[in-house]
Amino acid sequence: MKIVHIDSSIAGREATSSILAKSVVDRLVSGQDAQVHYRDLNQEGLGHLTDEVFAGFRLDAAERNETQQIAAKRSESYIEELRDADALVLAVPMYNFSTPSTVKAWIDYIARAGLSFSYGENGPVGLLNIKKAYVVSTRGGQYANTAFDHQSPWLEQVLKFVGVRDVEFIYVEGQAGGAAEQAVQTANKKIAELV
Ligand SMILES: Cc1cc2nc3c(=O)[nH]c(=O)nc-3n(C[C@H](O)[C@H](O)[C@H](O)COP(=O)(O)O)c2cc1C
Repeated sequence: MKIVHIDSSIAGREATSSILAKSVVDRLVSGQDAQVHYRDLNQEGLGHLTDEVFAGFRLDAAERNETQQIAAKRSESYIEELRDADALVLAVPMYNFSTPSTVKAWIDYIARAGLSFSYGENGPVGLLNIKKAYVVSTRGGQYANTAFDHQSPWLEQVLKFVGVRDVEFIYVEGQAGGAAEQAVQTANKKIAELV
């Protein structure tokens, strides 16, 4: 079993999203022969996708300058660890109604024409062949299934675009209010049901 495990909270491994995502991974791995690729996006230092880096993605390897070579290699290693994964487990707190910018940067590095998606006769085709994504989404407020949630609809769309077959959200909302602990318990129950 191949699992890609991604944290993105600026609170690191102590973050609620990181703790719950780890529990999803532990349950998936339990008793199985598993290969887990872990990344904390805070440690990746990706930065924005620049004109130089994007132009490099479109060049042959031999024509890339050093910056472009490093970025393309990085992008390709992210893509290869995702390819044919059984599960992608993403810990994503809501920041300013969306994801942490590190998640957007990571997506900008993995969405590569010809490598992770292509355009067929009937529109875009995802090439990564990932069975399932579990997204643990922590929020200070209550936004799931409202017009102000600019995180989950986008994540679901872009993950399916690169070839994730099924996306499951585990919401942990109201972390800024009095029912924070109850929301964690509900999320743990959902994890136990799903995995
Ligand atoms: C920079 C920043 C922006 C945030 N923006 C939002 C927001 O737009 N909506 C919301 O409900 N919570 C927002 N929050 C609160 C976090 O989503 C909330 O504290 C969450 O529980 C953090 O989860 P974690 O422990 O997994 O990091 C924000 C927090 C930070 C640090």
